[in-house]
Amino acid sequence: MSNTILVGSQWGDEGKGKIIDVLTGDMDIVVRSQGGNNAGHTIVDGDKKYVLHLIPSGILRKGKICVIGNGVVIDPVALVVEIKGLQERGIKVGKNLLISDSAHLVMPYHRSLDERREALKGKNKIGTTKRGIGPAYGDKAARTGLRMADLIRPDVFKAKLAQRIKENNAVIKGLGGKPINGAKVLAEYTAAAEVLKPFVTNTVTYLHKAMDAKKEVLFEGAQGTFLDIDHGTYPFVTSSNTTSGGACTGSGIAPNRIDTVIGVVKAYTTRVGEGPLPTEEDAIGDMLHGMGREFGATTGRARRCGWFDAVATRYASMVNGVDQLAITNLDGLDGLPEILICTGYRIDGKGPVLDTPPTDAGELARCRPVYMSMPGWMTPTDTIRKYKDLPPKARHYAETLAKLSGAKLFIVSVGPGRAQTIQL
Ligand code: GDP
Ligand code: IMO
Ligand code: MG
Repeated sequence: MSNTILVGSQWGDEGKGKIIDVLTGDMDIVVRSQGGNNAGHTIVDGDKKYVLHLIPSGILRKGKICVIGNGVVIDPVALVVEIKGLQERGIKVGKNLLISDSAHLVMPYHRSLDERREALKGKNKIGTTKRGIGPAYGDKAARTGLRMADLIRPDVFKAKLAQRIKENNAVIKGLGGKPINGAKVLAEYTAAAEVLKPFVTNTVTYLHKAMDAKKEVLFEGAQGTFLDIDHGTYPFVTSSNTTSGGACTGSGIAPNRIDTVIGVVKAYTTRVGEGPLPTEEDAIGDMLHGMGREFGATTGRARRCGWFDAVATRYASMVNGVDQLAITNLDGLDGLPEILICTGYRIDGKGPVLDTPPTDAGELARCRPVYMSMPGWMTPTDTIRKYKDLPPKARHYAETLAKLSGAKLFIVSVGPGRAQTIQL
């Protein structure tokens, strides 16, 4: 495969981790370029299940290099826990992991501010993962952030931290929160720095040299298009660019070095947290939750569920330049006699049919879906391994999703395991 960006074309949790793990087999390097440990990417390898938050989903594959790029925000303590957790399970994390020296740090005051701001928003809360992501990116934009390069220089880190603790504690107190103990943070972060230091490098030059040597790179998106800070359902979004452009800025790789963009979608729609979700349908959520599915990989919250929204995914294909579509969780619809696909919106269910989502979240919340109906295939698909063996109605459904999304059908996934992947 050539240099490829993989993004979520919905509201996150599309199954990106599973698809990355499958595609890594043909790649040399996997790069995360945005987000932080708000992400939860699930990989099932035989009877073992892994949930990755900061480490790229290529880590389970031997001989592959994983890079945490400059655009990621890193909670160093959480990253150490993740590294040790994988090592304890026999997964090699050593020279195969590189961490950008310019990635920003998530600090305990970011988590505290995230929690306080959400509490103060009351019923208007975003429903964040409370991992401190928004305040960390806020500091980055305000030019008051601390970076990996600071963390691994003890004197620099100590001095900068003292100043940041002072300012942030004043804000936290003003918001009714408990001040952060600077000495405790210094001790915890210094210990994490010891572990992380060997991994830290200039990943931008590393990636360029590797690409010059014809290594093939897969960029692993976190979150999804409608959680993008610019293109999502603002303010119910995360704080980074989750769309394909974010992969370039978040890794230092120019757009003209990218060959392909893959969009991942579920065969239906899910969202965790607050904000508009036009096709939300409790009955679908009840069915999927009843099957033990659609609980958040990071927070365990039940995901909101609904029918496939082709208005949204078509827009996502446009913004990301999606060439190829990977559809996951097709098996989730195996038992349904009838399946709906949203092909348009009408505001308050009246007036003209919209074929692109309104950018205003309030207006999007008023959109009522216009559906087309398709017959279900009513056959288990989870043991099927070849595209031609899928029930004709399932193939027709997948092909319709791809057509409506304006992308070429590339993968159909019928279960969480590696083998349950049909590549066209
Ligand atoms: P990500 O954040 O995009 O990597 O997705 P998550 O891991 O948060 O959520 C996707 C969920 O769907 C995980 O539990 C996966 O194991 C699971 N999954 C992925 N593809 C399939 C599939 O085709 N069928 C089923 N049944 N589960 C899948
Ligand atoms: P992956 O990579 C789904 C959602 C949160 C909340 C909003 C803002 O697994 O697809 P944040 O903590 O980022 O400030 O929360 O974004 N969110 C995700 N939803 N999957 C994710 O990541 C998410 N990361 C953040 O639920 O609505
Ligand atoms: Mg997830």
